[in-house]
Amino acid sequence: MQPDEPNSPTPYQLLGGDAKVRELVDRFYDLMDFEGKYRELRAVHGTTLESAREKLYMFLSGWLGGPSLYTDRFGHPMLRARHLPFAIGAVERDQWMACMVQAMEETEVPQELRQALEQALFRTADWMRNR
Ligand code: HEM
Repeated sequence: MQPDEPNSPTPYQLLGGDAKVRELVDRFYDLMDFEGKYRELRAVHGTTLESAREKLYMFLSGWLGGPSLYTDRFGHPMLRARHLPFAIGAVERDQWMACMVQAMEETEVPQELRQALEQALFRTADWMRNR
């Protein structure tokens, strides 16, 4: 995500920086692991969520306008291609979004930012659909 104007704060700054990205991603995967309503989404993932947790944290840092941790280490994200091995339909997309919205609410992401992120993340999640 890019800020609207050159001098306006990035979404990364509005969110609260590195510790807050980490907190959001940790809550997201904890919810995915423990809430029954995200069962189908959880099932697409492996036995542990540790690599997914680390990579989403690194990716979101750069995507939100902070340090480009993911691309520095892994190069271009090629997100759609990297998700092709996993069967992602509307159910998985909607659970991913619902889980992220719940994580944003529970970690108290400011409402205006939350709404902007929701819209942008939905476009990304929908683009990942391959079934
Ligand atoms: C639409 C529903 C989605 C599903 C079901 C899904 C599922 C997955 C799975 C199973 C993995 C592999 C995890 C592992 O390494 O163990 C993964 C990786 C990843 N996902 Fe998603 N994902 C979804 C949407 C998204 C969205 C919207 C984003 C970004 C905003 C995202 C970012 C990533 C990243 C950065 C990786 C690591 C890629 C790599 O380096 O291999 N995913 N995802």
